[in-house]
Amino acid sequence: MINTRKENPYWTPSRKGFITNYPNFQHWKKMDASAVSGGQSTPLNIYLHTPFCAQRCSYCYYRVISDGRRDEMQNYVDALCKEIEVAADHFDLASRPVRSIYFGGGTPTLLTPANLEQVTAAVHKHLNVSSDVEYTVEGEPVTMTEKKAKALQELGVNRISMGVQSLSDEIIKLSNRQDTQAKVLRAIEFARNTGAVVNIDLMSGLAGETADSWKYSVDKALETGVESITVYKMEVYTNTQYYKDLRTNSIVLPTDEEELKFMQYALDKFEETNYKPWSFFTFTKDGGSHNHVHAPSIWSGEDVYCFGASAFGRMGNHLFQNTNDVDKYIETVNSGNVPINRGHYMTSLDKMIRDIVMGLKLVKLDLKVFRERHGFALDKICAATLENLKSEGFLTIEDEVMTLTQKGMLHGDYVGKSLGGYLADFY
Ligand SMILES: C[S@@+](CC[C@H](N)C(=O)[O-])C[C@H]1O[C@@H](n2cnc3c(N)ncnc32)[C@H](O)[C@@H]1O
Ligand code: SF4
Repeated sequence: MINTRKENPYWTPSRKGFITNYPNFQHWKKMDASAVSGGQSTPLNIYLHTPFCAQRCSYCYYRVISDGRRDEMQNYVDALCKEIEVAADHFDLASRPVRSIYFGGGTPTLLTPANLEQVTAAVHKHLNVSSDVEYTVEGEPVTMTEKKAKALQELGVNRISMGVQSLSDEIIKLSNRQDTQAKVLRAIEFARNTGAVVNIDLMSGLAGETADSWKYSVDKALETGVESITVYKMEVYTNTQYYKDLRTNSIVLPTDEEELKFMQYALDKFEETNYKPWSFFTFTKDGGSHNHVHAPSIWSGEDVYCFGASAFGRMGNHLFQNTNDVDKYIETVNSGNVPINRGHYMTSLDKMIRDIVMGLKLVKLDLKVFRERHGFALDKICAATLENLKSEGFLTIEDEVMTLTQKGMLHGDYVGKSLGGYLADFY
């Protein structure tokens, strides 16, 4: 085993390698619903997925359908509702109160108000939704009409998260998005008028971005007064248009050093305007009260049941994912079966590392809670690695709470990966 970060061959501080799941999908095996046990008796979070989008953005690595017809979307929505019924029955999901609903994609706001109503009705019919549930819907500004925003309000949506990426028309266009700054600002206003907490995503490191265009975007985003701003470090994946364009030299991306400076500017600006981090990439106005329930609950180890093609979740010790083939997904649920087709049973070590890498997204990790949950003192078993990370300015430890510094936040999952890398040869 490796006992210092200097001896750790796995990680260097880098903008790349955002962790969406641990253990990584490469370790998952073929698995169907009969192998997944019922999970814990704690509250349940649910994730709903739609793969449809208005276009395929040049940087985006998600599996999306950008040319979906209305009838195809309707078939998909019918299947999603059927899956809610079938899975709720199979796993007795209605016995557990649902405390957060997250409808993500793709672009849920591309669906019609009737589609959204149908899905929400199925959730309420087959699951036990708490009266104070957090209900988030993801959207793209170009699809957020006033009518759509009103429909979301009527359905009880109390958090709207929109991909904005940039407020510079030139950068938006280079990303193959149909938005403009004017459309984005209008959509934000429609969303805010519903009374929901509004989050917007920005991306640092997009093609063509300069220090000036980035400052312009961050400053404009803050001027909107939205409750929450998320900044993702743009990563290039092989299945994207960016990747192809880079190979033909038809786009220029900011270097990693430039991207770090962009992030640094955003972090300084958020601090100046009292937008506080609840994760190392999401900042909320005045902190606290606009914190998000769904992601933190999952990162702290609660169960999340996922519905929709390619959606992935967790029940107790099992991580699992539905088939990502949309036709197969529809066929499976229409024949009354749960469409899970791969998964991973987490060992005690997996759960311990997962708690570190996912938990550290929340900027702080309580070492006492960790010790009580896993029976190990992290600050003892990872003492040398922690000492290195501390002396290099990535984190502090006070009153048994580990906290990422601004440098730690700038480098994303680096601290989590370093500690996880010590505990096992992972990824
Ligand atoms: C499902 S989308 C958000 C909603 C909607 N589809 C939209 O784009 O407006 C989730 C977010 O993933 C982020 N994202 C997509 N591709 C990315 C990449 N290559 N690197 C980092 N973040 C990425 C974007 O910020 C995007 O807003
Ligand atoms: S960024 Fe959003 S709208 Fe663009 S392709 Fe990805 S999921 Fe769809």
